[in-house]
Amino acid sequence: MSATPAPAPARRLMPSDLAARKGGDPIVCLTAYTTPVARIADRHCDLVLVGDSVGMVLHGLPSTLGVSVEMMVMHGAAVNRGLDRALMVVDMPFGSYEAGPEQAFAAAARIMRETGAGAVKLEGGVAMAPTIAFLVARGIPVMAHVGLTPQAVNTLGGYRVQGRGADADRVRADARAVAEAGAFAVVLEKVSEPLAAALTAELAIPTIGIGASAACDGQVLVIDDMLGMFTDFRPRFVRRYAELGAAAEEAVAAYAADVRARRFPAAEHVFAETGGAR
Ligand code: KIV
Repeated sequence: MSATPAPAPARRLMPSDLAARKGGDPIVCLTAYTTPVARIADRHCDLVLVGDSVGMVLHGLPSTLGVSVEMMVMHGAAVNRGLDRALMVVDMPFGSYEAGPEQAFAAAARIMRETGAGAVKLEGGVAMAPTIAFLVARGIPVMAHVGLTPQAVNTLGGYRVQGRGADADRVRADARAVAEAGAFAVVLEKVSEPLAAALTAELAIPTIGIGASAACDGQVLVIDDMLGMFTDFRPRFVRRYAELGAAAEEAVAAYAADVRARRFPAAEHVFAETGGAR
């Protein structure tokens, strides 16, 4: 597997840079929630998403519904401190934008002001198009998210594949509506391959797939999923590039055994009465 870092441009990527990549080299996106992980992602990714998945993977919530604007601001500011190159997009959490464009503007402006984000992401299609247009007209770039929208898990009836059969018309209408409203890119989550390919061909903005096939203009994954850190469940669309959860478990078990057997700390970890102070 290649570890060649992406070449560093002189400035942070902007939404317009990524929009211009439509139909070009695949756009590489990952989530991040902390500064050290953001530093790694920055060397390899075009876009770093501070996803509301943070609620499930770092805070142990059962879904993304319990995530607050405060959580997004805290993690967004931390991620921004680790980025030199990638565009940072911060998710708008459930309940912070659905009531109407004014509510959405207030929350998005706070997120951008307090985190340094270059754009926000919100879930929803036709119903959210007026809000997307309102934000874009007021200087807030928006990445849209259609197909499986986890904040709507209760109305969608679970985390099922979207857009199969007659349902394709609904997902297509959502994708077209957000593109027409001015979103600079759209996440297609858990959308069947033929529909994802058709939407990628039809839309003038980049499609970013997660469980939506290689036909999309880019890909995004939750970083804890692909590193094997989040193991509560494993969506079929995830490829595990490492097993860091298992490695961490082994390391913690070894530490616990060493402490119990008084093998740690050893001589090199101990301070004598005189000598080096560090
Ligand atoms: O919250 C998140 O991490 C996301 C990605 C899965 C697209 O929305």
